[in-house]
Amino acid sequence: MTRILGIETSCDETSASVVEGTPEGAKVQSLVILSQDVHAIFGGVVPEIASRAHLTSIVPVTRRALADAGSTLDAIDAIAVTHAPGLVGALLVGVSYAKGLAAGAGKPVIGVHHMEGHLFATSLDHAEAQPPFTALLVSGGHTLLLDVAAWGNYTLLGGTRDDAAGEAFDKVGKLLGLPYPGGPHIERIARDGDPSRFRFSRPMLRRDQHPDEPEYFDLSFSGLKTAVRLAVAGSEDLTRDAPHIARGFQDALIDTLVAKVLRGCRAHARTRIVLGGGVACNRTLVAAMQEGARSLGAAVFAPSSRLATDNAAMIAAAGLFHHARGHGDDWSLNAWPQAPIPGLR
Ligand code: KG4
Ligand code: ZN
Repeated sequence: MTRILGIETSCDETSASVVEGTPEGAKVQSLVILSQDVHAIFGGVVPEIASRAHLTSIVPVTRRALADAGSTLDAIDAIAVTHAPGLVGALLVGVSYAKGLAAGAGKPVIGVHHMEGHLFATSLDHAEAQPPFTALLVSGGHTLLLDVAAWGNYTLLGGTRDDAAGEAFDKVGKLLGLPYPGGPHIERIARDGDPSRFRFSRPMLRRDQHPDEPEYFDLSFSGLKTAVRLAVAGSEDLTRDAPHIARGFQDALIDTLVAKVLRGCRAHARTRIVLGGGVACNRTLVAAMQEGARSLGAAVFAPSSRLATDNAAMIAAAGLFHHARGHGDDWSLNAWPQAPIPGLR
């Protein structure tokens, strides 16, 4: 039984968590997430404000996570921290703090790639969400379609050519006059939308695409966003049309995501689909994915909302895997705004 303290500060959530178990059976002992609401008034994350807020909260958040788990620092086997990718100033707060804590307590420190963390998140909610599986990671900053043959063995099938899926939700939210972040608001108002009023074309999705072409798995949302902008500009009564436009946008985006995931699942003969990232909170997406997967006899696993969005439990879970393999970092561990996922082909 291994016990890992995880720390996450890559964007606007300060989070710490204690996770215990093995890579095939990890359990969350505690999870503290402090979201920085201040960014809402700016309509997006302000990096300098994020760094300063992490500095203020990192110590009490970590102490609280240890206390909630009934643990001391001494009883921890290793400290895992997000070191890439993200806002470099924000990442530096977590990395510096984790290194200091580890050095002081004589514990190993493990740098974790934020997106690898998202891959592990769902397995904390669903024990069966283990490799091999097809993974769709959809957040505000990333959209990745991966084949996961085993933990640490990832094949990139496709990604977005422009906006991330969550970014598209947020930009469309702005166009429709909804609060930031727009994703949850679009899902809410789209429930009252008529799907036949605005039918946007499905981006990068044609029947004649072939698995050898990058277009087969890749995604693109900027054209869809432009189509929404034109629909908004052409609307005579946006209050009346907003739910219909939101519905048309969400239907097009979800249809595309489902089709690409099913292509990935079929190409590698997988029977499990694992979703992750903030957009995986979208119940309409999860239901559509389950409906689509039925035809392949595949099971869909989606994380609970607290593990879908940024959190330190997923970082601890990925750290547990690296620790079990005997991997760790030395004091030269640094923060990087961009970095490839380890084990990615
Ligand atoms: O993973 P996350 O918390 O942060 C990043 O690493 O980006 O994802 C945040 C994104 C935002 O773009 C937000 O609009 C989106 O997740 N999101 C949703 C929903 N809940 C959150 N998008 C669509 N539907 C939702 N219900
Ligand atoms: Zn994230």
